[in-house]
Amino acid sequence: MNKLKTITAIDVGTTKVFSLMANVFTDGNLMTTPEIIATSIAPCNGLKKGNVNDVKLTSAAIKQTLQDLESQTGIKTKSAYVGVTGSHVSYENKRNSLKDIGGHGVITHDELNLTEFESDSDDQRMLLHAMPISYTLDGADGIRNPIGMHSDAVSVDTHVITADRTFITKLTESCKEAGVKVDAFVMEPFASALSTLTDDEREQGTLIIDIGGGTTDIIGFKDNRVIYTAVIPVAGFQFTNDIAYTYDSTYESAEKVKMEHGHTELTAIEISKNITLNSNKESQTIEVPARDIGRLLRERSVELAQMVQLKLEELEINGLDTMKIVLTGGGSKLPGIGHLFQRHLGRRVRLGEPNVSWSNKFDDLKHPSQATVLGILIWAYSCLQKKPLVGSQKTMDSNKTNKLIQKLLTTHKKLRLSPWIRPTANQINNHS
Ligand SMILES: Nc1ncnc2c1ncn2[C@@H]1O[C@H](COP(=O)(O)OP(=O)(O)OP(=O)(O)O)[C@@H](O)[C@H]1O
Ligand SMILES: [Mg+2]
Repeated sequence: MNKLKTITAIDVGTTKVFSLMANVFTDGNLMTTPEIIATSIAPCNGLKKGNVNDVKLTSAAIKQTLQDLESQTGIKTKSAYVGVTGSHVSYENKRNSLKDIGGHGVITHDELNLTEFESDSDDQRMLLHAMPISYTLDGADGIRNPIGMHSDAVSVDTHVITADRTFITKLTESCKEAGVKVDAFVMEPFASALSTLTDDEREQGTLIIDIGGGTTDIIGFKDNRVIYTAVIPVAGFQFTNDIAYTYDSTYESAEKVKMEHGHTELTAIEISKNITLNSNKESQTIEVPARDIGRLLRERSVELAQMVQLKLEELEINGLDTMKIVLTGGGSKLPGIGHLFQRHLGRRVRLGEPNVSWSNKFDDLKHPSQATVLGILIWAYSCLQKKPLVGSQKTMDSNKTNKLIQKLLTTHKKLRLSPWIRPTANQINNHS
């Protein structure tokens, strides 16, 4: 077996940077599944609500993890796949008519990839992913793969995810200062979905809710397509801050109490149980009934569930009411939150722990806060295979993608459609 590539995946989260390194080998003509060879985590204070706020602090945390990976493996990371989230990320479902397609024989794969359509991108926004949802042929919609069909009028519904260029530039700079180039950005909840959802869930319709430290990210799948993305700027930080603010305790002490004693179901907390918090006033402690802490966490959880509900009301798709929810991200570990979401959203809810089927010695990568980094690795591996993980079409070849993104970055008006359009490493790293 020959080593083909070492992949580094970096999840730049609001509370921590989590990086991992994996080797991919070739065995004859076959590519092996990634073998994770090292992981590293470092606390990070450079982000606010998922957005890079302080480039120095962020790059220091990234650097720390990369040095750690290097000391474990002897391999220096030159480039990496990097996760992106934040309140600046937004999405749009667009319907574009594909004027040059149809009317002359069956629709071909090349035709689809070469067709131009209008885009609303501008100088402020950067395209992260553009994924086709379905095609409409002669007024009949919902067609997943039109290749081989006849039609006089073809249009496509595409889920386009964009990010604020300023924040992306800061993230790119943070990576650069840490000595690493960006191979590609990956939308974080999309990555989390890749490592936690089953194929059936992606097919039948599932909403994944990633409750992190700074943001709660939602991504919806149906028919193996991304149909919805949203970012809510409320997450684990606010849960902890409610405790710290109410009792004037240190944030660290409130965080510890939340992790060790937090529960959203009051009946699960012993009525006589008290908890000690460290006060902000020097060397003083505060005794608090555990149920009062639970009450604060429950109120915040209800508020978050209501915010999710409001977001979901924006979504107009058939079968939304029955779509299952998968909770992931560190915040989903708060005991009781799954049941609370189930009651408030009126749907089935399960906890989404990452589950990669490849055998490797890092079997303990199962915590929901590790879902993103594993999903970034899955995405990177799929890029290596040039196989999109959702949707039914092949990736556009890199030359075409290059031209297309160049066009997007410069003219912003017309772009060619591909299921897996995204900036190339060159374009990302030379644009900050
Ligand atoms: N057992 C637990 N109970 C309650 N909260 C928890 C638990 N474990 C982790 N958390 C919370 O999860 C949050 C961190 O989750 P995660 O690592 O997914 O966030 P992140 O990736 O750093 O942030 P983001 O994705 O928002 O940028 C913290 O707020 C932490 O308090
Ligand atoms: Mg995260």
